[in-house]
Amino acid sequence: MGKTGDMTQTILITGASSGLGAEMARQFADLGHDLGLCARRTDRLEELRTEILQRHPDRRIEVRALDVTDHDAVFTVFRDLAATFGRVDRVVVNAGRGKGAALGTGRFDDNRDTAATNFVGALAQVEAAMEVFRAQRGGHLVAVSSMSALRGMPKSMTTYAATKAGLAHLVEGLRTEFYGKPGYDFTVLYPGYIASEMNAGVTAAENKMMVPTEKGVAAMVAAIEKKRASACVPALPWAPLSILMKHAPLPVFRKII
Ligand SMILES: NC(=O)c1ccc[n+]([C@@H]2O[C@H](COP(=O)([O-])OP(=O)(O)OC[C@H]3O[C@@H](n4cnc5c(N)ncnc54)[C@H](OP(=O)(O)O)[C@@H]3O)[C@@H](O)[C@H]2O)c1
Repeated sequence: MGKTGDMTQTILITGASSGLGAEMARQFADLGHDLGLCARRTDRLEELRTEILQRHPDRRIEVRALDVTDHDAVFTVFRDLAATFGRVDRVVVNAGRGKGAALGTGRFDDNRDTAATNFVGALAQVEAAMEVFRAQRGGHLVAVSSMSALRGMPKSMTTYAATKAGLAHLVEGLRTEFYGKPGYDFTVLYPGYIASEMNAGVTAAENKMMVPTEKGVAAMVAAIEKKRASACVPALPWAPLSILMKHAPLPVFRKII
């Protein structure tokens, strides 16, 4: 049944087959939490499950195939994991797609797929998570947004940044709705550049602000465990840069991105 009063939490992570999601799974397991891991590539999820269980045989890890653009499946899988564990303490809306093209250059298909995954797919996850949380009277919703959400971005980033701003606003809206209600927490993470499959083509030499996956995810996990309302991760350089990104005059902003 429920895990109230014990340190182990049950955490559902989408997009857990690679990058930040897989590393969050490892680090949450290291902290003693049980996991529901979702993604399309279930072979990767099974490998991750085996790897984590070798280190932590007492952990409980459930794996589910999930394409977040299949909205019925999102509800089915979230309900199934809630029933299987008896309670889901935290949901991390992490699945995402980084592709896109400048608007009006003939790649509506690409931008539409990014919007469908990162925003409509995230909306389905938030709806399904809140259904579980309302039924069990509490839970911690975590959205993996992006530093790019802080301001409209040019070219291939335009749609991606808009989807991440949209996701952040969904969760901020819920935080306003549930203000003062005990048991409900909402965290929006704004990651900077963290090594993952999404940016595998970019080397550390090309992007000096890129941090290794373990380090970037450690900052994410620390912010989540503290139930921070929002956090730029890693805090340096991204927290100070967030002020510049939001307020720099356009000619300055165009030069720094
Ligand atoms: N890395 C960064 O620097 C950075 C910065 C800011 C924000 N983010 C955000 O962090 C999140 C994780 O990305 P990442 O960097 O770890 O990239 P990644 O290694 O490419 O991981 C993306 C994950 O999302 C899953 N995914 C993609 N489309 C999906 C779909 N339709 N249904 C279900 N799962 C889907 C993938 O799993 P399958 O392909 O197996 O389904 C994979 O597990 C994303 O939301 C991304 O936008 C990353």
